[in-house]
Amino acid sequence: MSKRPITVAYGDGIGPEIMEATLKILEAGGAQIEPEVIVIGEKKYAEGFSSGIEDSSWESLNRTKVFLKAPITTPQGGGFKSLNVTIRKTLDLYANVRPCMSYHPIITTKNPVMDCVIIRENEEDTYAGIEYQQTQEVAQCLKLITKPGSEKIIRFAFEYAKTYNRKKVSCFSKDNIMKMTDGLFHKIFDEVAKEYPDIQTDHYIIDIGSARLADTPERFDVIVTENLYGDIISDIAAQVTGSVGLGGSANIGQDFAMFEAVHGSAPDIAGKNIANPSGLLLGAIQMLVYIGQSEAANRIHNAWLKTLEDGILTVDLYKEGIHKKKVNTTEFAQAVIDNLGQKPSILKPVHYSSGNNKKIEGKYTMTQKAKKVLVGVDVFLDWDEADRNPNVLGKLLEPIATQNIKFHKISNRGTKVYPHGNPATFCTDHWRCRFVTDKFQIPTTYDEIIELTQKIHSLNLEIIKTENLYTFDGKLGFSVLQGE
Ligand code: NAI
Repeated sequence: MSKRPITVAYGDGIGPEIMEATLKILEAGGAQIEPEVIVIGEKKYAEGFSSGIEDSSWESLNRTKVFLKAPITTPQGGGFKSLNVTIRKTLDLYANVRPCMSYHPIITTKNPVMDCVIIRENEEDTYAGIEYQQTQEVAQCLKLITKPGSEKIIRFAFEYAKTYNRKKVSCFSKDNIMKMTDGLFHKIFDEVAKEYPDIQTDHYIIDIGSARLADTPERFDVIVTENLYGDIISDIAAQVTGSVGLGGSANIGQDFAMFEAVHGSAPDIAGKNIANPSGLLLGAIQMLVYIGQSEAANRIHNAWLKTLEDGILTVDLYKEGIHKKKVNTTEFAQAVIDNLGQKPSILKPVHYSSGNNKKIEGKYTMTQKAKKVLVGVDVFLDWDEADRNPNVLGKLLEPIATQNIKFHKISNRGTKVYPHGNPATFCTDHWRCRFVTDKFQIPTTYDEIIELTQKIHSLNLEIIKTENLYTFDGKLGFSVLQGE
């Protein structure tokens, strides 16, 4: 077999130690790979690359299309972009796959039966990174959930379940509150699920879903969820298995893939040769399956399980009196190498088949277009007058109208405060003032909206932004005010 070129980054903190250990195990285990090393992270930020990566590294990634990456330290403070987010978005790595396993009775865990895979949307949600400070008191982060993004990740989750013979896919969202964004995600989940009648499905509101995942993980198999929720629950799940040091992660896109550990660069233990290389190794094993080297993946994964079973563990997992030997990073790697060819007898051995490297595709297919009609505008104001009495602002805005649009209501932090607001409602300096056509039924034009905003501006009111209000096939494309 000819060697497969892959791009490798040793990363920061414990990165170089665990990468060295991982590559040594891969080589001894018969992985046919040819690493091309790139330097990213702290050193590059220090050289002035604000996203932590330079052009020549992108060339390597574009050539090999497969990236094995050790953790990197994200610099604190403004001006720096998270390199992880940059790489995921630039290479369209929309699916983050995080298997979470308990290794009972070897590794101490409160939940002995856990074997689930979290599939997290990797590009959208609040991680689009679109944020504004709009007034003295109010900052905003845009949560973007798209049809293509949701359909791609949800379809990926079902295809993953099929490929790995998993029985159930659970969707986690918060659509009882965010009816448009999370509602869209849940709706697409229900639609895509119909195409996979052999796979069971269910849906959990994220709060109770997370609680159940921490308490009774055995009820879950594959979980698909949005970016932020997935980020949080995969750390919870990794911790429930016994250590964040055990989590490996794959970031998959249409043409590119990146494999890494779930944990970060652990600066507190860097340079001591005590870090557990298992998370990165498990990420690398997913990489071997992805590039069609499942035999090597089986050999290495089983040798690793056997090493756990032998009680040879790094300090994060080792328990005096229970396990046999506390080892450092290098010694752990050597123990795995010494076990190559062996299988565990207490833990379940793994078996990746050549079919597991089938490209899992999260296609986007739904294209039907609805009739979109402009029916009004929300005008957001920065207003800090008259003790923030909504009735004063309401009286100012009430007369403002154009031929088709007239004043409707004012809300503050989403809650209706005018007309007939409750004096108990706390008001910030950030006001949403809604102007609409009659019963949202009559179409208006953008020219009318400009005319309306000019009238508001002429009252010396500070407009910080406007948001057009549309209907789609007659259905409201915006949330109604809380308390309306
Ligand atoms: P962390 O995951 O690096 O460390 C959390 C705790 O877990 C620490 O006590 C650490 O010693 C321990 N730990 C982590 N990995 C371990 C291992 N392999 N073996 C033994 N113990 C291990 O999280 P933290 O401290 O919040 O972040 C440190 C840096 O890593 C930050 O700059 C953060 O931005 C970055 N980070 C990078 C990631 C990546 O490159 N994918 C992911 C998460 C964080």
